[in-house]
Amino acid sequence: MDETVNAQQSRPGRLRIGVVGAGRVGAVLAAALKRAGHTITRVSGASPASRERIEVMVPEAHITDPDKVGEGADVVLLTVPDDVLPAVVDGFARLGVFQPGQIVIHTAGRYGVEVLSPATHSGAIAMAIHPAMTFSGTSVDLGRIEGAPFAITTTPTMVPIAQALVVEMGGEPITLNEDARQVYHAAMAHGANHLVTLVSQACRILDQVGVDDSAKLFSPLMYAALEGALASGDLALTGPIRRGDAGTVAAHVEALTTHNPDILPTYRELARATASRAAHLDMITPQAALEVLDALEGHASEGPGTGTRVVTTVAELKECLTTRRRGVVMTMGALHEGHLELVRHAKRHAEEVVVTIFVNPLQFGEDEDLDTYPRTFESDIDHLTDLGVDVVFAPDVEEMYPQQRVGVQAGEMGLVLEGAARPGHFDGMLTVVHKLLGITQADVAFFGQKDAQQLALVKAMVHDLNMGVDIRAVPIVRDADGLALSSRNAYLSATQRRQALVIPRTIEAAVRVAADGASPQETLAYARREFHTGGEGVDLDYLVLVDPDTMQPHDGDRAKPGLLAIAAVVGNTRLIDNAVLEWQDPASRLDPVTMEE
Ligand code: PAJ
Repeated sequence: MDETVNAQQSRPGRLRIGVVGAGRVGAVLAAALKRAGHTITRVSGASPASRERIEVMVPEAHITDPDKVGEGADVVLLTVPDDVLPAVVDGFARLGVFQPGQIVIHTAGRYGVEVLSPATHSGAIAMAIHPAMTFSGTSVDLGRIEGAPFAITTTPTMVPIAQALVVEMGGEPITLNEDARQVYHAAMAHGANHLVTLVSQACRILDQVGVDDSAKLFSPLMYAALEGALASGDLALTGPIRRGDAGTVAAHVEALTTHNPDILPTYRELARATASRAAHLDMITPQAALEVLDALEGHASEGPGTGTRVVTTVAELKECLTTRRRGVVMTMGALHEGHLELVRHAKRHAEEVVVTIFVNPLQFGEDEDLDTYPRTFESDIDHLTDLGVDVVFAPDVEEMYPQQRVGVQAGEMGLVLEGAARPGHFDGMLTVVHKLLGITQADVAFFGQKDAQQLALVKAMVHDLNMGVDIRAVPIVRDADGLALSSRNAYLSATQRRQALVIPRTIEAAVRVAADGASPQETLAYARREFHTGGEGVDLDYLVLVDPDTMQPHDGDRAKPGLLAIAAVVGNTRLIDNAVLEWQDPASRLDPVTMEE
């Protein structure tokens, strides 16, 4: 039998293909390749169902052991279940199944070619080809794969060959990067498989109330919804949430609680996602989205503008919190547009927003402005109510620090730059941020890029202490004259404020020259010159270029972003500002005339 296979000659340009795993996908792809004129030499398939499929779909192929499939084959097609693929590839490589120059293809959705590296180490060429289609394992599928997308991952030189194979099978090739494979497969499963769950849930609800043919009743609406979503995405949304109709959503929750409590959690989760997308895309107002979210929780709407609760104790706060995805913005009050921008981000990215106002004594040095720090509580609450914040937590010092035996230490990163000028500041800051993340049980917390070192330290703490909170950075908000907004700007006289503008001017100049192609070193030197030409009345503490994650000096590598950070004292007021800079390719700096030569 072996001789027969080896002697079998492929037609010129035609390939001899061995198939491992004659499941539904394997049998159908083998038949499609045969239809394209290739020869299926050997197929492995252990179960009676596999053998039957082989006999029907590729009767001329020899059924053999999996490790013999590669013999004399130009192509080895691995169509084994995703979970066993790595072990199969490994085992085959050890048994010497893969030959130099042989093309090894797998059809697992979630893997790229990395999983085939034992085969490439044996000199084989690796390809991942995933048909984005469901298979029954019968010849009906041959019609179905006509025009079906096939996701290809392989090395750039092999892409045309993979594409040709797909086209020959009747498919539509789409190339995917290695690192996109897993998320691609998650998307396919989420869209296609979960759609099945969703549709059958909906049919079950109708079946239970005695509708005869629920599928027939649904079909036109479901097809229209699917077509709309594929053509226009979220914009195809219709229905009560799209109209901001919280009353109807509340009625749905009530009905499902009685009739289909098993389906209620899915309804809630999808309705929440729908409401937050609708608000994000400005299809409904944030207030309408909040009312829908309240209705989903089974709470009656409290009406616009009455939803912000102000609490001062941890116990009261706990009573207000729901199971919704919570976004937290921490502040020391004296709110300005910079803080409010953080709140707007939180409103967009979370379902429930908590803002904390607490002037934290632990992060102020002895000679600093703890006692005089601006306090504008009433107007802060007005702003936060206008923005639709759910809860404001404004504890006093006794509530926050009834006893404080343990704290967070910022380590080395907290000793440089601001930490050098303000000893202990970052330990105190991290301690309160840690406490507030715990008290508010934040899912996501928003910090301003304005305090870049604070942001880096909070991220480091959350990472190093495995706190599991998503930390998001919000860009710096500036006044019309360019000065970064800060509660402490209130301390500046008119003259000092004019003098302080050298800081944003320097930042802006650095951003400009970096965008024009200057190197990290050139940008820093340029920024220093710019500062010194206009820095009268401003006492510079530092003007540095550092790594934005570590605060260590930038090493000049254009591949790494740099944080240009400035701190200066004007009168008695310490001001900070910064920009994160990306570097251009040096080629983009070349004079166009030179480039033409
Ligand atoms: P505070 O200075 O009140 O700032 C609160 C938040 O607002 C911080 O995340 C800060 O970076 C951000 N922020 C301030 N000015 C900004 C601006 N112009 N643009 C964008 N964001 C700005 O930072 C603190 O309080 C405290 O250290 C705190 C984190 C609350 C801990 O006590």
